[in-house]
Amino acid sequence: AATVRYEAESAPATCDGTIDTNHAGYSGSGFCNSNNAAGAANQFTVNAASAGTATLAIRYAHGGTDARSADIVVNGATVQAASAFPATGAWTTWSTKTVTIPVSAGSNTVRLSASTAAGLANIDYVEL
Ligand code: GCU
Repeated sequence: AATVRYEAESAPATCDGTIDTNHAGYSGSGFCNSNNAAGAANQFTVNAASAGTATLAIRYAHGGTDARSADIVVNGATVQAASAFPATGAWTTWSTKTVTIPVSAGSNTVRLSASTAAGLANIDYVEL
């Protein structure tokens, strides 16, 4: 099935923080700048054609020098704990990280939840 893009700033996605537009290069109408707090999350609802494993692409920017990581939680289950989001060099430099996740047929929730007090990197979108 074709890859579908889900913007971090567009419902039904939720962002524990602000939807910002101050760092160029994002897709859609902004990006999710999560609170700098452990557990701050950006949650998506994504569709899978069939049950199995799928490749999730996460577009993000991290212009800081601290380590950022997120628990990747699919349908309530943590599938990757403290998955690294390496620094991209600038808040306007967007990179894509891919992870393999288990999915159910139909609607799935994918939650990126900050592992540390640094919060999440800025999140632009996911594709699945
Ligand atoms: C800066 C940057 C934000 C970013 C934040 C952070 O304030 O402008 O876009 O989210 O740092 O460290 O998380």
